[in-house]
Order: sequence, then C-alpha cells, then structure tokens
Amino acid sequence: MKTRFLGQSGLQVSELCFGAMMFVGNKGWRHLSDIRQKEADAMVGSSLDAGINFFDTADIYSDGESERILGQALGTRRKEAIIGTKGGFRTGPGPNETGCSRLHLLEACDASLKRLNTEYLDLYQIHSFDFVIPLEETLEALDTLVRQGKVRYIGCSNFTGWQLMKAMAISRELGLHRFVSLQALYSLVTRDIEAELVPVCLDQGLGILPWGPLAGGFLTGKYRAHAPWPTGTRLRKPEDRFPFDEQKGYAIVDELDTIARAHGGSIAQAALNYLLQKPGITSVIFGARSMEQLQENIRATEWSLTAEEMDRLDRMSVPEKLYPHWYFDIFRKDRLHR
Ligand SMILES: NC(=O)c1ccc[n+]([C@@H]2O[C@H](COP(=O)([O-])OP(=O)(O)OC[C@H]3O[C@@H](n4cnc5c(N)ncnc54)[C@H](OP(=O)(O)O)[C@@H]3O)[C@@H](O)[C@H]2O)c1
Repeated sequence: MKTRFLGQSGLQVSELCFGAMMFVGNKGWRHLSDIRQKEADAMVGSSLDAGINFFDTADIYSDGESERILGQALGTRRKEAIIGTKGGFRTGPGPNETGCSRLHLLEACDASLKRLNTEYLDLYQIHSFDFVIPLEETLEALDTLVRQGKVRYIGCSNFTGWQLMKAMAISRELGLHRFVSLQALYSLVTRDIEAELVPVCLDQGLGILPWGPLAGGFLTGKYRAHAPWPTGTRLRKPEDRFPFDEQKGYAIVDELDTIARAHGGSIAQAALNYLLQKPGITSVIFGARSMEQLQENIRATEWSLTAEEMDRLDRMSVPEKLYPHWYFDIFRKDRLHR
C-alpha cells in the first residue's frame, strides 16, 4: 500500500483509509452493520498488516461507540495509526452540545480523546460547516487544540467552495493553523465536488478525502438495472441511496464491470481505483461491512485503470454543469487558443 502526503502537510497516510462508521457495537447504529468489538479488532489488525495506516471515525457515529471500538481495536498498535475523527454535530440535548463553537469543540475533542483512549488526534475535522457560529471562532478553537498538543492537524468536511475558501483566508489573516484536508462525498455517481471544491483544494493545497466512494454499496455490482433490489444490504430500498441519476448509475456499474473483468478485478475495486487517480485525492475513505469486503477493497491498490478507461468513465459520469461553469468552458477554450 502506497502512502501520500495529506495535502501540503508533512503527514503521510495510506492511499486507502478505513472508514469506521460501521463499528456499531451492541448499542449503536445497528441499521448499518453488526460489527462489534471482536470483528473490529480483526478488521483493524488486517488493515494495519496490509499497510493501511489511516482510520476515519466521528464522535457522533453510534453515539461514540465507533471511536471507542476503534481505540480499543488499535490498542498497543496506536502509534502505527493515523486517526482522523470529527466533531461539531450534536452530542447531547443542551444548547451548547452542538455546533462548531469554541465551547463545544473543546469539549467534543476531549471526549473523543477519551473514547479513543489516546493522548492526541492526528487529524481533527469539523464535520460540517456551521451556519450559526462565526468561522473565526471555530478556527481559533481548532488552533487552540493544535497548540495544546491535543490535535496534530485540522481539516473539515461537508463545506461548499466559498465556505472553504473563506476559512482558508481567515486562517491566513489571523495567523492560525490551516485546514490540511477536505473530506467530501465523492464517487463516480456523485462528482459534484469537481465544480468548486476540487479547484479550491488544488489551489490551496488541501488533500481531498472522498467519503462514500462506493455510493454506499451501489457501485459494487449488487444493484443492477432490471434486477430485483437485493436483500441484506445497507441500502434497504432505492430511496436509501444518495440522490443521483439512477439510469446513469446503472450504466456506470455496467462499464465498471467490463473494466474490472479485463483486469481480473472487482467492480468495487474499479470504483475505488477511479478515485485514486483523480486530481487532489490523498486517500479514499471506504466502508466495509465484513472481512471479505475489506480484503477485496484493500486489493484495489494492486491494479490501476488505464488512461483510456479513466477517460471512458469520466465521459459517461460527467455531472451536469451549473452556470457559470458551462459559460467558462467557452471562455476557457478561447483563452487556450490564443
Ligand atoms: N464526512 C461525512 O459526512 C461522512 C459521511 C459518511 C461516511 N463518512 C466516512 O466514510 C466512510 C465510508 O462511508 P460509506 O460506508 O458510506 O462508504 P462506501 O464505501 O461508499 O459504502 C460502503 C458500503 O458498500 C458496501 N461494500 C463495501 N465494500 C464492498 C465490496 N467489496 N463488495 C460489495 N459491497 C461492498 C457495503 O454495504 P453493503 O454490504 O450493505 O452493500 C458497505 O457498507 C465511513 O465509514 C465514514 O468514516 C463520512
């Protein structure tokens, strides 16, 4: 497994990141999975043995169970791992137990450290842009956490382009530690971030960490046009998946199938490989509900899509352009010809 620098930071992470959202234990989000401590121990051990050093979780996943299980699974191998977690969503009923305020972030970080049973977090991310709290307050709170030694690097998740750019500018203006990464929904059927966020990340030197790279399982071959919806999967019905053009999605799965067969690989591996070659990507955060899925996803890094296959997938999955992006296309062509 290769490692890549997380944006312009000095931190090297494996190009695949293990998403621990499905560590639910006995009392967590059982609609997602059945993974308890024993299975988690085995999955984390296998990941580390295969060269995955990067693990993603969040304080809200199963009300903290995911962090607790991950911390215990890492155990004495903690130092081999890069732990990314997230804070900023609601963790209790009180008015100050939610959001990216100084008070809540400082408390949320301490609670994550405790559950993960670690003295520091490698990457602490804001789970989402907060429409109420001023970015200055959030960024100063994150800077405090870095200066206190509780957090090594900071990042964000679920921002728009202007929100991210504003955050980067405020950090620079106030001399604060800056985000090194963006975690965002990105897959062959959800390429929305390419319009604004990818250009900001390339310009500002942030590493991109796609979540939902298999569209929750849609891009693995079990959902096919004209076939009955499968049973026993996380997406129980068509409405459970993210909004995307279903017919286009099925055609993409068919194409991934053709490509995967040519390489002796799987559809899931082809979908992960596609993202690994996209500009700005540092590490792809995948989910796995079983050891078999984990092993299959790890092997994605053993082969790559050709430039022609990338191009084919790019063309058939191209997202509809919003203004002014289609307008810029005309202008850009004109500029390039001069
Ligand atoms: N920042 C955020 O807001 C945010 C949001 C969501 C997730 N995340 C992070 O991203 C991680 C991944 O998210 P995700 O689980 O939605 O990602 P995903 O990789 O798109 O979907 C994972 C699902 O795909 C199926 N799958 C995975 N590997 C497979 C394989 N080899 N063959 C067949 N099916 C396979 C499994 O579901 P079935 O077996 O049921 O089909 C699995 O639950 C999470 O763990 C979390 O760390 C972040």
